[in-house]
Amino acid sequence: MKVLMINGSPRAEGNTYVALREMEKIFKEEGIETEILQVGNKAVRGCIACGSCAKNGKCVSDDAVNKAAPKFAECDGLVIASPVYYASANATLIAFLDRLFYSTGFDKTMKVGASVVAARRGGLSATFDELNKYFTISGMPVASSQYWNSIHGRMPGEAKEDGEGLQTMRVLARNMAFLMKSIALGKEKYGLPEKEERVSTHFIR
Ligand SMILES: Cc1cc2nc3c(=O)[nH]c(=O)nc-3n(C[C@H](O)[C@H](O)[C@H](O)COP(=O)(O)O)c2cc1C
Repeated sequence: MKVLMINGSPRAEGNTYVALREMEKIFKEEGIETEILQVGNKAVRGCIACGSCAKNGKCVSDDAVNKAAPKFAECDGLVIASPVYYASANATLIAFLDRLFYSTGFDKTMKVGASVVAARRGGLSATFDELNKYFTISGMPVASSQYWNSIHGRMPGEAKEDGEGLQTMRVLARNMAFLMKSIALGKEKYGLPEKEERVSTHFIR
């Protein structure tokens, strides 16, 4: 059982990383493998809407997105973590996630998702909502904690002093582990939910 953790901060060991490390400790106790992918410091362009992924099954820009795709396909859980920039997620992370979710055709149903946000002071819950939307359009159940998954700090490492934020991360990781294990049992017993042929409509027909 494996959790892939995406760090959307350009600071490899900043406050977002503090949150991810706190979760990692619990995953280890639960016997769950983890991998942190550092994305926020990579050169990742936005989606150019060329549609070639629909034919080739991968993004036309062969970068961190195509490297992450097989890891996403294999994992049982995905954590998306971001620093808050102007009450939103880091722009590189958003470019990465748009292309990762759009270009990959594999079934994401019942992979458990969790998002985590780090900020000095404000814009946390808006960013948290923004990130959760990648899961909820993909059939991915969202793990939750005792509070919205946020941690406070400005300079790298300050988040280590946010006792409530750290506890929120530990509880989140325990809840996520429980969900992943329960879903694995459920899949064995009942299989994945039945799939319907996709109906795709928009506002003009
Ligand atoms: C461009 C930029 C915009 C930011 N916008 C916000 C913001 O809207 N709200 C906030 O509380 N902190 C904001 N911050 C502070 C960061 O969210 C904070 O330093 C956070 O701990 C960074 O996480 P990291 O160490 O993982 O990179 C901003 C920082 C930068 C560089």
